[in-house]
Amino acid sequence: MTKKRAIVLAAGKGTRMKTELPKCAFPILKKPMVEYIIENLEHSVVDETVVVIGHQREVFEKMLGDRVSFAIQEAQQGTGHACLATSALLEGKAGTTLILLGDMPLINNKLINKILNAHENSNNDLTVVTAEFDNPKGYGRIVRNQYGRIQAIVEDADCTKEQKAIKEINTGIYAVDNEQLFRYLPQIELNRRKGEYYLTDIVALMQKDCHIGTFAMRDAYRVMGVNDLYNASVAEKHLREDINKRHMLNGVSIINPETVTIGHNVTIDPGVTIHPNTTITGDSAVGENAVIGPNSEIHNAIIRPDVHVRHSLVFDSEVMERTTVGPFAHVRSGAVIGPDNRIGNFVEIKKTTTGPNTKAAHLAYIGDTDVGHSVNFGAGSVTVNFDGVEKHKTTIGNDVFIGCNTNLIAPITIDDNVFIAAGSTVTKNVPKGALAIARNKQINKEDYVKHLIRPRHNHNGQK
Ligand code: UD1
Ligand code: CA
Repeated sequence: MTKKRAIVLAAGKGTRMKTELPKCAFPILKKPMVEYIIENLEHSVVDETVVVIGHQREVFEKMLGDRVSFAIQEAQQGTGHACLATSALLEGKAGTTLILLGDMPLINNKLINKILNAHENSNNDLTVVTAEFDNPKGYGRIVRNQYGRIQAIVEDADCTKEQKAIKEINTGIYAVDNEQLFRYLPQIELNRRKGEYYLTDIVALMQKDCHIGTFAMRDAYRVMGVNDLYNASVAEKHLREDINKRHMLNGVSIINPETVTIGHNVTIDPGVTIHPNTTITGDSAVGENAVIGPNSEIHNAIIRPDVHVRHSLVFDSEVMERTTVGPFAHVRSGAVIGPDNRIGNFVEIKKTTTGPNTKAAHLAYIGDTDVGHSVNFGAGSVTVNFDGVEKHKTTIGNDVFIGCNTNLIAPITIDDNVFIAAGSTVTKNVPKGALAIARNKQINKEDYVKHLIRPRHNHNGQK
């Protein structure tokens, strides 16, 4: 078997994006573009991948770690120059090299395998992957001779008027014999207009002595390049449609799918319903018969079967079976909400675990807390976890009733079967079975109001 390697070019700044982040690290559905490519390469026949980095290279080193090898292109002098940066790693090795640009997030592993397969069956030294675009502006054009053989790729800005009319474009994907690649790369000359070494010039160089073929793509949108934020939105739209369709065909009901965004790595069981204006991203999973949305955001969260989340946010957390979240709740930072809980209106839960059957139905903040089963948080309950310098823990046992407007000043432990009177500010631990009241006693002064000096109002509200 021939060894198969990939080079991914991701050293450029992406000036047209007008963003701080280097282009290939820009997120599509909250995931960096280049990560889509790497993930698909990992699931393809490719044996090893070299990513060329330069501008803000540490972003990619951190993101991809040891999943790939890196080649450094110090100054970004074009795609040909970027490929040459891999020579210390790849030059002289036998095998096939697939070259990909880091700004084509819609490419997938099936397509990668198909291209490599077609290349190897054709005995080409170089296979250029092409597509037909109705609006080819910005792409390199495929120039063919009278016999239909590829002669050159001409960049948009260098095209003659006739060439501009060509709709067959260079996708920027090439499968090439690795030894030939490094024979021809150093021969690429500087494009004076742009001051760059164009990888595309390799076609004209190789066509005299080598066998060059093309592979025409049918789903042209899969190889669109993302050069600016508008392109990014178009890529995101395509990806969203693909992903939603896959889930719907798998038995997930998505209402008004144009408004629903599901990330690439999210798993959703059949029988789930997703209502409008909902995004589920990151490493999230949603279990059978859960109902998510409308207007909800789920990121890196595990939602177990039969959970309902409405008008709410769940980030980096887990919600167990049959629990309801929302409307207007915020569950975050490693919270684990037990089964059959109710997390209701305007409740924030952070870094907290709860046992089964616990409820915080309205207006509560519960942070850095371990809560047992069958606990009831009254409206306005607050775990006072921050003293201005440090965060402190609260521990609450089973079958505890926390009256409305209670402050639990952490660190504090409330034992099982405790009842806390409404309006208490609890600063000391409460033992098992106790009633805790921590508030001032009420005084009623009988027949007193007539002594108050109060302004008199007439029926117009005037004094
Ligand atoms: C490139 C192709 C064009 C093709 C199009 C497909 C060239 C000269 N042009 O144009 O024919 O139709 O892609 O989308 O190859 N990069 C580096 N180092 C550099 C320059 C670029 O690593 O010095 C990387 C960029 O990070 C990017 C990729 O190469 O991921 C492509 O560069 P870009 O500037 O987007 O090329 P296009 O103008 O789109
Ligand atoms: Ca591009």
